[in-house]
Amino acid sequence: MDAIAQSTRTARAVLAAHAIDKAYRRGAWPVRRVVPVLSGVSFSLQAGEIVGLVGENGSGKSTLMKILVGALAPDAGEVERVARLGYCPQVPQLYERLTCDEHFELFGHAYGIDARQERDARRALYESLGFGRYAGTRVGQLSGGTVAKLNLGLALLADPDVLLLDEPYAGFDWDTYLRFWNLVAERRATGRSVLIISHFVADEERFDRILDLRDGRVVPR
Ligand SMILES: Nc1ncnc2c1ncn2[C@@H]1O[C@H](COP(=O)(O)OP(=O)(O)O)[C@@H](O)[C@H]1O
Ligand SMILES: [Mg+2]
Repeated sequence: MDAIAQSTRTARAVLAAHAIDKAYRRGAWPVRRVVPVLSGVSFSLQAGEIVGLVGENGSGKSTLMKILVGALAPDAGEVERVARLGYCPQVPQLYERLTCDEHFELFGHAYGIDARQERDARRALYESLGFGRYAGTRVGQLSGGTVAKLNLGLALLADPDVLLLDEPYAGFDWDTYLRFWNLVAERRATGRSVLIISHFVADEERFDRILDLRDGRVVPR
């Protein structure tokens, strides 16, 4: 591990990024271009912390999120995943023809949690997010707001130590927004961490820290 990596490593970090670089290659020869998106991103998330990561549209937030969860490889640098992650992608990865219940079952299998634990967690999530009446409804028939609840519920199903959310407010109505912050506060109280990535933050006081993603780097606000 190099000097940069050492400087961002801390005792209680549950997730850390060390000097991450990422560029996309665009176009075809002879007009192929390399567009740098992340250049030397380093930061860490501590246990029990609610952190907001804010950047303009196109600044590389979703790219960074995908690298943090391991869905995309960085060109350089490394991600240290100390605890279990739950990921709520910006574009929900759901199946139109499956119901909410079927999604929970499917994701429960994928996470490797037993059927009983999955059913208990599912019931609690329907209750806390308020969408149990759509348990048997296919995703193709749900409103955008309910899809957003399901997307969040699936990320929370296995009770991850670290919850990563990419633009979570987009599909939320006001009621869901408040329920969402209640859930976040509960997680924080039990030492779990939440990283919220967004192009804006409304209620700054709800966060422990806010970081800015600017010119390919993460800097404290
Ligand atoms: N797969 C891709 N191939 C090429 N360019 C991409 C790809 N994904 C994202 N980009 C570009 O990288 C930049 C950052 O995108 P993204 O990480 O989605 O930003 P944000 O989430 O902050 O809006 C944008 O300019 C976007 O067009
Ligand atoms: Mg994005």
